[in-house]
Amino acid sequence: MELIENLKWRYAAKAMNGEKVTQEHIDLILEAVRLAPTSSGLQPFEVMVITNDEIKEKIKPVAWNQSTVTDCSHLLVFAAWDNYTEDRINHMFDLTNKIRGFENQGWEDYRKMLLGTYPQRDAELNFEHAARQTYIAFMAAITQAAYEGVDNTPMEGFDPAALDEILGLRKKGLRSTLLLPLGYKDVDKDWLASLVKVRKPMSELVSLVE
Ligand SMILES: Cc1cc2nc3c(=O)[nH]c(=O)nc-3n(C[C@H](O)[C@H](O)[C@H](O)COP(=O)(O)O)c2cc1C
Repeated sequence: MELIENLKWRYAAKAMNGEKVTQEHIDLILEAVRLAPTSSGLQPFEVMVITNDEIKEKIKPVAWNQSTVTDCSHLLVFAAWDNYTEDRINHMFDLTNKIRGFENQGWEDYRKMLLGTYPQRDAELNFEHAARQTYIAFMAAITQAAYEGVDNTPMEGFDPAALDEILGLRKKGLRSTLLLPLGYKDVDKDWLASLVKVRKPMSELVSLVE
């Protein structure tokens, strides 16, 4: 199937049936997250994979009681860095040098530029920048899940401060940004499952500048 057909198939599932997603599928979805592009390649976020039913039950009330939080197989929590620090920036540049096996002056100059800019900025501004990167990886996960026929619910409808508290994220220098329940739709309970996907026509979305 063409990827575009998978994207037409996918939708934000409103009810899931509890069926488990195989580890192989989960690993591929997480690999898509890992491969997602990020600004300066910093990958300023982490992903929690929650399978524990008690923890899912604790999260549900702070996520507008959305049923897929508990009916899903795996609940992904995207959490962005709360700030850019020298250590965090250096870690990614050092990792790049280690993996590529050489240092490059242009790359080192770029490191210095980031070190001279990001850590001095307001933490909230840095968090917002890091948070934007999670949305890119989020879409990679959604796309890969669709490619594998795994249903999911993109979810911003939750109280991030409450979720951070449940998962102890602030202590780790992280703040939750997005949830992605993964599983299989419950066709009988999901009011959206049989409805036609609605999107603007291309003419309202794209302008050609020649
Ligand atoms: C960032 C983001 C946050 C969303 N939050 C929720 C949510 O909390 N609960 C929900 O049921 N759907 C949520 N959605 C799903 C959208 O409502 C849905 O993608 C949109 O209406 C288009 O429909 P479709 O994805 O089913 O084709 C979210 C989608 C995105 C991209």
